[in-house]
Amino acid sequence: MRRSCVAVAEVLQVVKENIRPGSSTMDLEHIAEEETKKRKARPAFKGYMGYPYCLCASVNSEVVHGMPSLKKVLRGGDIISIDFGVLLDGFYGDAAMTLPVGAVSDKAARLIDTTAASLEEAIKAAKEGGHLSDISYAVQSYVERRGFSVVREFVGHGIGRNLHEAPQVPNFGLPGRGIKLKAGMVLAIEPMINIGGSAVKVLDDGWTAVTVDGSLSAHFEHTVAITQSGPYVLSRP
Ligand code: MF3
Ligand code: CO
Repeated sequence: MRRSCVAVAEVLQVVKENIRPGSSTMDLEHIAEEETKKRKARPAFKGYMGYPYCLCASVNSEVVHGMPSLKKVLRGGDIISIDFGVLLDGFYGDAAMTLPVGAVSDKAARLIDTTAASLEEAIKAAKEGGHLSDISYAVQSYVERRGFSVVREFVGHGIGRNLHEAPQVPNFGLPGRGIKLKAGMVLAIEPMINIGGSAVKVLDDGWTAVTVDGSLSAHFEHTVAITQSGPYVLSRP
């Protein structure tokens, strides 16, 4: 799984280097596709439940599952969430990040930083002897203390020989609930955080999830193994 996740991290790094005003999200899709091939991996999302692309590219008030489009051209001040996964030698890796396009507002920058930091808090809670919802609680308490809100309709997940395995990993909840965490489990932890309200809706394309109030949203994800010596972030470059 480390090898799958390193491929994911490397492809995301190349995509990141190509995020600038004037790039379309379809340009990023093509880059991801090419970089995936170079690594002899298969894109995990393309064909999954009929999803047609390698990347999810969600701009501004899009939360997750934004579909790459030639018509979606990035402008300075936008924020973009890129979610990407691969299948390599029988195992999946999955990761996501939100990036600023050029200079963004202080509020947008704070949203991005807070979401990234909430994932780090969640990772610290992914340890043997803890409970699943310790991860959920870590995200929610960190984010809400800072005045942002947690998306509830989408969750993290177990990952391994399948992209989505049990258990679901919500980003909200009280600590000490759910299964006990054990060494050997691997979880994709993925906080999705809004500046405004937590409500989201799916557009008529059947995929793109947006905030109901139009506020900005950010998303970070890592594939994390629970080990006897603590959390191992498999998708950290
Ligand atoms: N990172 C997302 C997830 O873990 C990506 C899935 S998008 C889909 O569920 F297109 F594959 F559905
Ligand atoms: Co995921």
